[in-house]
Amino acid sequence: MALIPGKQILEEARKKGYGVGAYNVNNMEQLQAIMSAAKETQSPVIIQASRGALKYSNFTYLGYLMKAAVIENPNIPVVMHLDHGNSLDSVIKAVDLGFSSVMIDGSLMEDGKTASTYEYNVKVTRSVIEYAHARGVSVEAEIGTLGGLEDGVGSGNIHLTDPKEAKKFVDATGVDSLAIAIGTSHGAYKFKGAANLAFDVLKEIRALIDIPIVLHGASSVPKELIDEVNKYGGKMPGATGVPIASLQEAIKLGVSKINVDTDGRLAITAAVRKVLAENPEKFDPRDYLGPARTALTNLIITKMQNFGTAGHAKDYTPKSLEDMKKLYASK
Ligand code: G3H
Ligand code: 13P
Ligand code: ZN
Repeated sequence: MALIPGKQILEEARKKGYGVGAYNVNNMEQLQAIMSAAKETQSPVIIQASRGALKYSNFTYLGYLMKAAVIENPNIPVVMHLDHGNSLDSVIKAVDLGFSSVMIDGSLMEDGKTASTYEYNVKVTRSVIEYAHARGVSVEAEIGTLGGLEDGVGSGNIHLTDPKEAKKFVDATGVDSLAIAIGTSHGAYKFKGAANLAFDVLKEIRALIDIPIVLHGASSVPKELIDEVNKYGGKMPGATGVPIASLQEAIKLGVSKINVDTDGRLAITAAVRKVLAENPEKFDPRDYLGPARTALTNLIITKMQNFGTAGHAKDYTPKSLEDMKKLYASK
């Protein structure tokens, strides 16, 4: 089975009404945890690397680790996805590494911080689509901006997606999937008070566009993980995320891809802090990265069950990038 195009996994998820988690990766233990969870629950999965993560690993290290995850799991449909590409150049690097899906985040300028214009977004997205589709690679774009500020990802301001603009954008670009802003944000501090997502905006967008919808900033920031981090020396007061029930509602209303990075970071940090606090004599990285890997596996198993992905690995007859190339060329 192995590597499949982003478009295939999202269209299948949309058809069957479940959500596919797209889990950010930086290292081997994260990849092993995600793939163990996918195997355990028999789920299709998206493994995604941000451009920051690729740069951190000097591109090839992470690229080859992701390929290893695919090769080691022949019965699991896997998408290798670039998260928050900021330019055609970043997309070319990911395609060269063998990714089957890329995101171009043209909602922001290349600096990843300054809000862009609609015209800029259309132009950069079109240039990426021309390059990626010619190689069978699927493209996700973004319209509207998320709040929160991660390393180079996010303007810090929220601009909810305008449904009519989303429709215009999809028609103007021919993009495969669309990330929208309905009140989520990146990171561990998403809401001041109760979580509040603009489901009315999601409904309007769903009624107007006919491609899979993507939700970024979708970590739940579980209280038990924050308590564990704080118990063992961390300091994360007031961290909050998107409740599972809200994500399930979003899936019901038409979201197919759910981006999760922060929750994985929290599971790892809590486990590492616990081992080191309780065993100050330990210094072998395997002694703390092993438990971190187990904690992450368990977190993702639960997500796969909650998003409805579990059990769906068997549904796929994988399409190759060559198949996709022909399909895109015929349009
Ligand atoms: O959406 C952003 C992801 O959490 C990636 O974050 O740029 O720090 O790797 P990063
Ligand atoms: P979180 O920070 O909520 O995990 O969002 C991750 C994300 O959107 C990656 O693109
Ligand atoms: Zn994101």
